Parts: sequence; structure tokens; C-alpha cells
Amino acid sequence: MSVQYRAVSWNRQKRIYDSIMACCIAGYLLIFTASGSAANPDATLETLLIRGLGSGAFLMLHIVLSIGPLCRLQPSLLPLLYNRRHLGVATFLMGLAHGSFAIFQFHALGNINPLFSVLTSNTRYDSLANFPFQQLGLAALIILFVMAATSHDFWLKNLSAPVWKGLHMFVYAAYGLLIAHVTLGALQSESSPALASLPGIGMATVIGLHLAAARREHLIDSKRSKPPMTDLSRLAALTRFPKNVQR
Ligand code: HEM
Repeated sequence: MSVQYRAVSWNRQKRIYDSIMACCIAGYLLIFTASGSAANPDATLETLLIRGLGSGAFLMLHIVLSIGPLCRLQPSLLPLLYNRRHLGVATFLMGLAHGSFAIFQFHALGNINPLFSVLTSNTRYDSLANFPFQQLGLAALIILFVMAATSHDFWLKNLSAPVWKGLHMFVYAAYGLLIAHVTLGALQSESSPALASLPGIGMATVIGLHLAAARREHLIDSKRSKPPMTDLSRLAALTRFPKNVQR
């Protein structure tokens, strides 16, 4: 049987969720570029946008990855889970805008294809200080694209839930690549210890939340599974009558 494609069915909650998300993104970019140019008046708007879009996308990915365990730890946060896929697609679009600006700024003015230039201009894989970190960002962006492209219910039904879930587990590979992209790239020249520690704090938060949620589920599962009945307890259960039953 074939699965029919139906465009996103918007409702009031989805509109509110997306409006809040759009306002937060616009507010973040505004604050980032304004404070960035105040701190460093020589920085161009392109540079500020590359950094604002990249750090914004990275922050959003942390939120996407934290929502699942947070909802398992605190069910009252479940409304955040609703529409998480829109947040994931927005994360990809922010990453795409960041990557496109970065490729334009650093690779578009030569005489070779800019994408080819990203892949070939630096091949120093043996150097930590000069590692081609942009290629790691590109690999992560490709994974985020595949997930954004298959995030619609149509693909969930068409691919089947286990395959779709397995595919979307690659978000952790994208996250690992981005941790490396930031650590081997922007962090190499970061002089502020507070800013340099942010990716580490983000990673510790994501891992900590996943471990806490897994521990909670393990406790719930072990409470649910009853101990096997011994012969004596089975006999006691058989001879025990409910109070309202007349013997
Ligand atoms: C084609 C893909 C990508 C390319 C070519 C690329 C390139 C770059 C470059 C050149 C920088 C250094 C910018 C600077 O210091 O002025 C950078 C930084 C960064 N990138 Fe990417 N990137 C890509 C994808 C991504 C994606 C998908 C994310 C996140 C989802 C990301 C997150 C970041 C972050 C957080 C920084 C540090 C920003 C800062 O300095 O505040 N990048 N990237």
C-alpha cells in the first residue's frame, strides 16, 4: 500500500510554538550581532552572522537533544516535545545559513568550485592545530539535511518507525562531528576561558540528562517487574479471599 503525502497540518499550538521559536532565533541573532560589534568594532557583519548563526544552530541542537530526556524526567514539560521536529528543521536551516555564509566568505573568491575548495583546500588531518574543521561541519550539515528532509510524518510511515528511528539516531553522530568542528575550529583561537568552556558545559549537560533519564527509566522498569512467585506465596494467594466475597 502506498502512503499519501500531506503537507504540514498547522494548528494553533504549532503556530504558537513556531512563532516563539522564530522570535527567539531573531532575538538571539540581534543580541549576538549587537554585542559582537560592540565588543569588536572591526568585525564585519558577515563574520558576526557566521558566528551568530553557527552558535545559534549549535545551541538549538543542544535543546533538541535535551528535550527527550527532560520530558522523561519531568512529564509536565511534554508540550516541548510537541513539534520538536520543527525545531530540528530550524536547526538545520540555521546550520545551512551559517555554512553557506562561511563557504561564501572563505571559499567563494577563488577559481575552483567553493564546495570542492572546502574539501580540498586543507588536508592536514595529522595536525590538531590546523585540522580541516570545516569538513567536519559539512559532514554534520549533510546528516542534519537527511534528518530534516525525512522529518515529515510521510517518511515516518513510509520508512516504518524502527528504520526512521534508527536513521534519526544519526543526530548523535552529527553532534559529535559538531563538537569536533567547534573544538578544532573556533575554540583554537578563543582567548576567553568562559566562552571556551561553553561547548564542554553543553556536552556535559546533554550527557548528564541522558544518563539521568536512563537511570529513572531503569528504576521504573525494575519496580514494574514483579518478583517471581514462590510456591508458598502462590498458596497464600490462592487461599486469600477478597473481603467482599462470602465463604
Ligand atoms: C558546510 C558546513 C560548515 C562550514 C563550511 C562551517 C564553517 C565554519 C567556519 C569557517 C567557522 C569559523 C568562523 C569564525 O571563526 O569566524 C565555523 C564556526 C562555527 N561553526 Fe561551522 N561550518 C559548517 C557547519 C556548521 C554547522 C552545521 C554548525 C551547527 C549546527 C556549525 C557550528 C559552528 C559553531 C558553533 C562555530 C563557532 C562560532 C563562533 O565562533 O562563535 N557549523 N564554522
